[in-house]
Amino acid sequence: MHPMSIAYRRIGTISSVEDFRAYLAEQQVDLPVDDAILAGSDSPLAAPITCGDLTIGNRFAIHPMEGWDGTSDGKPSPGTVRRWQRFGLSGAKLIWGGEAVAVAHDGRANPRQLLINDDNARSLGDLRQTLIDAHREQAGSTDGLVVGLQLTHSGRFSRPNRKDRLEPHIAYSHPLLDRRFHTDAGSAMLHDDHLHRIIDQFVDAAVLAEDLGFDFVDVKHCHGYLGHELLSAHTRSGVFGGSFENRTRFLRTIVTGIRDRAPRLAIGVRLSAFDMPPFKPDPDRAEDHRLGPGIVDLQGVSAPYAWGFGLDTANPVAMDLTETRRFLTLLQEEGVRLVNLTAGSPYYNPHIQRPALYPPSDGYQPPEDPLVGVARQIHAAAELKRAFPELVIVGTAYSYLQQYLPHVAQAVVRRGGVDLVGLGRMVLSYPDLPHDVLTSGTLKTKLLCRTFSDCTTAPRNGLVSGCYPLDPYYKKSDEMKQLKAMKKA
Ligand SMILES: Cc1cc2nc3c(=O)[nH]c(=O)nc-3n(C[C@H](O)[C@H](O)[C@H](O)COP(=O)(O)O)c2cc1C
Ligand code: SF4
Repeated sequence: MHPMSIAYRRIGTISSVEDFRAYLAEQQVDLPVDDAILAGSDSPLAAPITCGDLTIGNRFAIHPMEGWDGTSDGKPSPGTVRRWQRFGLSGAKLIWGGEAVAVAHDGRANPRQLLINDDNARSLGDLRQTLIDAHREQAGSTDGLVVGLQLTHSGRFSRPNRKDRLEPHIAYSHPLLDRRFHTDAGSAMLHDDHLHRIIDQFVDAAVLAEDLGFDFVDVKHCHGYLGHELLSAHTRSGVFGGSFENRTRFLRTIVTGIRDRAPRLAIGVRLSAFDMPPFKPDPDRAEDHRLGPGIVDLQGVSAPYAWGFGLDTANPVAMDLTETRRFLTLLQEEGVRLVNLTAGSPYYNPHIQRPALYPPSDGYQPPEDPLVGVARQIHAAAELKRAFPELVIVGTAYSYLQQYLPHVAQAVVRRGGVDLVGLGRMVLSYPDLPHDVLTSGTLKTKLLCRTFSDCTTAPRNGLVSGCYPLDPYYKKSDEMKQLKAMKKA
């Protein structure tokens, strides 16, 4: 059912920690792995951590994950409510944003993305309350629970009106992405006055989020969306492009606006700490119905590569964290302490952003063992954590570790490589993994995410997202039938 790469060993077939360590060594992947999962207060993952006035009760965070299942006017649907409920039941004490919520209709990533405005405020408040009630029911109290809302403008990847039509708003003309996504840079270019309006929309949204009781908002700067794209707007003229100061004006102005109008609200930033150019399937190595492995797609563009953030302009498939460090210094100066580090973009280099053995329908076979992608993010986060001990840093890309996720998570947190371990896909298939780890140190192996990528393939084809293979909710659904038919075709 899932076209797969046979080149790399499936984690599910590795039956002991020793074998897992041996396989890591064979692949020359350097990751710390604890011998056993520790439960209760012995676990480094059980220790609370403070961030300003907030105390986060343990070291598990739930990453934001959209379901492409809101109503057309941007309110939660029953599917959205169920997902947030499951986030609440997870046992994780930091809920990083729930999912991306657009600050304006034209910045929605899909016509069913949640939208924050006066009309929708109440339903978003109810969504938060659902999560909190679920958490209380499971944990007995809400002590140490911190809940944020991720605010977004989708920029180049906006699809507000039709799931199959991009209506992009770009910060600058990108020679590779414009071509790949058929973007008319002239009509899609965001003018400075429009960017100022979007800044106001972020601040208005944050004021609403504070009223609704959220502990913090994430001013999203990752995955190729607008905030992230502005960080690499080297070629843009005017006050939002060129110098580092100009490229960070968007962030700085939003932070100042929030401080002014919602002073009690904490601010976080989810950041793609490094990026890479777009990848594509190698056409020469496609087989039958199988995509070829990913290769970098530079389309004849030569160095210096001027269209990325956190990459080496002379060799853009290598990271360079110099500006990332500068950006984190800026966040610290602005009093932003909550940072969630991710990488790349799901639209043009998914193996960097969410390592998987099975590619999504618009992806490619993994060009490297996905463990290399996991380690790349874990090492970058550790390097940045070392440089910024005052920041509270959430790490990403742990789901691919599957049954060894807790062993690695524990070891990384114990060594101070990250403050919190964020979970994305794993909580779609196995929402209460943090609870099981912390209370019994055992796992329900049947629920482990095996990175089949259906939760990405479905929305790429206009269906709601979710864990089709493992979550019984989708078993007999129309969406499951459509996904199967689509894959067959
Ligand atoms: C279905 C799906 C929806 C996602 N939606 C968001 C989102 O709304 N905001 C965001 O910052 N990241 C989003 N992501 C990325 C995840 O937060 C996370 O970075 C990624 O899945 C890698 O972590 P993992 O290895 O634990 O899955 C999404 C990922 C998936 C699979
Ligand atoms: S569909 Fe399920 S198993 Fe597949 S990647 Fe998504 S969460 Fe994991």
